[in-house]
Amino acid sequence: MDRTILFHIFAAILFLYIFPITCLSKTSTNITTDQSALLALKSSITLPLDHILVNNWTTTTPTSVCDWVGVTCGKLHRRVAALDLPNMGLIGTIPPHLGNLSFLVRLNITNNGFYGDLSEELANIRRLQYIDVKLNNFSGQIPQWFGVFPKLVHLNVANNSFSSFVPRDLGNLQSLKVLKMQFN
Ligand SMILES: *[C@@H]1O[C@H](CO)[C@@H](O)[C@H](O)[C@H]1NC(C)=O
Ligand SMILES: *[C@@H]1O[C@H](CO)[C@@H](O)[C@H](O)[C@H]1NC(C)=O
Ligand SMILES: *[C@@H]1O[C@H](CO)[C@@H](O)[C@H](O)[C@H]1NC(C)=O
Ligand SMILES: *[C@@H]1O[C@H](CO)[C@@H](O)[C@H](O)[C@H]1NC(C)=O
Ligand SMILES: *[C@@H]1O[C@H](CO)[C@@H](O)[C@H](O)[C@H]1NC(C)=O
Ligand SMILES: *[C@@H]1O[C@H](CO)[C@@H](O)[C@H](O)[C@H]1NC(C)=O
Repeated sequence: MDRTILFHIFAAILFLYIFPITCLSKTSTNITTDQSALLALKSSITLPLDHILVNNWTTTTPTSVCDWVGVTCGKLHRRVAALDLPNMGLIGTIPPHLGNLSFLVRLNITNNGFYGDLSEELANIRRLQYIDVKLNNFSGQIPQWFGVFPKLVHLNVANNSFSSFVPRDLGNLQSLKVLKMQFN
């Protein structure tokens, strides 16, 4: 068989078979994914035992995660766009599942007792514009991957237990307007 024909057959297979699979795998998250991510966060909060999310972030009532306290969904996609849990006295860690909130624009967990490292999976959330984790107890290195968010406007990691140098990649952040790192 002619090489050109073989090439066309190969290209057709690529287009009909492989191309749709890659497209589908990229769009296969939905509000259920967001719900699992939030429930993972809920279960990684260990104290206080009766924290505000215990009876609110539940799937027993027929409400959407968009009605959960601290959760705001986008008007267009109806996916979780903002997570605002400031001043709630929550003690726990950030699970990798939070990185599945692919429509998240704002993460505000300021003034709680979150500790450990900021899960690297958060780097998957390319829409993030506001990260406010000040007044917690995160430790380890200030993440290099803070430099990956193309739209990041506001980054506040003040009053934690981070160590190490300021990541060089922060220089890539073209939209950054607020950067606070004091008291680490
Ligand atoms: C979300 O996607 C999963 C498969 O990835 C599917 O089983 C589920 O029904 C979907 N949920 C909604 C609310 O569309
Ligand atoms: C959770 O809190 C929100 C906001 O305060 C409230 O509107 C909603 O009814 C609560 N849901 C439950 C199940 O308590
Ligand atoms: C979400 O993230 C976790 C950990 O990063 C992963 O194990 C899980 O399969 C992801 N996807 C969904 C749909 O929950
Ligand atoms: C986070 O929430 C606190 C308390 O409501 C507020 O003062 C702060 O401005 C918020 N941060 C961002 C980036 O919206
Ligand atoms: C913060 O974490 C450090 C260890 O990383 C611990 O020694 C310290 O007690 C913690 N502080 C608070 C306020 O939880
Ligand atoms: C942040 O930490 C500094 C130094 O430990 C402390 O003086 C300051 O009061 C803290 N800020 C807040 C708002 O607690």
